[in-house]
Amino acid sequence: MSESTAEHAGGCDHEISHPVFAALYDLLPEPAQLRSHREYLVQDLSGRTLDLGCGNGELFPYAVDASTGDLEYHAIEPDPHMRTRAENNARETGLPVDLRDARAESLPYPDDAFDVVVAGVVFCTIQDPDAALEEVARVLKPGGEFRFLEHVRADDWRASGQDLLTPLWRRAAGGCHLNRHTIDRFVSHDAFGLEEIERTGVGVFPASPVVRGRLRRNRDGLFGVGTE
Ligand SMILES: C[S@@+](CC[C@H](N)C(=O)[O-])C[C@H]1O[C@@H](n2cnc3c(N)ncnc32)[C@H](O)[C@@H]1O
Repeated sequence: MSESTAEHAGGCDHEISHPVFAALYDLLPEPAQLRSHREYLVQDLSGRTLDLGCGNGELFPYAVDASTGDLEYHAIEPDPHMRTRAENNARETGLPVDLRDARAESLPYPDDAFDVVVAGVVFCTIQDPDAALEEVARVLKPGGEFRFLEHVRADDWRASGQDLLTPLWRRAAGGCHLNRHTIDRFVSHDAFGLEEIERTGVGVFPASPVVRGRLRRNRDGLFGVGTE
């Protein structure tokens, strides 16, 4: 059974509600080293953009600064405690956001709806990451960009430590998994071509390494097969 299928066996209907985690996420200061990576996610942002699992709206101020003018910002966030904070954050930063209560596994948008999809530290938490990636491929326009910043499974002895810690960590950190093969998942998907990938220097064990990058949705059909 794949990592995703095993986690998905119970369906995606469990409640997503983590009031303490949402409050801590708001209160704890963001490491300064993360800023340049958040800027990376939104640089020269234009067109219809989807912020997947926007949390408290951490990316909103960065998006305001980086916007090139014709930005239409959409976001989904299933946790009501995060979403309320995101709404406030959108108001405070002055970013018009179409914010919806939805999950990445089932996006409430038509095919080919977005120029850019952004994922900031979210594929560690989504219950069914394979289904979510299918949805990203579906809602991105051909040629659209998927930008990500994610902590992933270590590629050395630390991975065993992440396996051991993950059950406890998930409970404390709003469902976050330390040991996901997120990059393998991204780069092996037929709907995308890899544009850029970089292991960053931020993040400490057990939530490291942190990887950022960009995939481009194939122009010629979801699976790279010509359709014209
Ligand atoms: C670690 S936070 C990241 C928040 C924000 N994107 C950031 O850059 O800091 C993970 C977020 O994913 C959300 N989430 C959990 N399950 C999700 C799902 N199935 N689909 C979309 N978002 C989900 C959580 O509610 C939480 O807000």
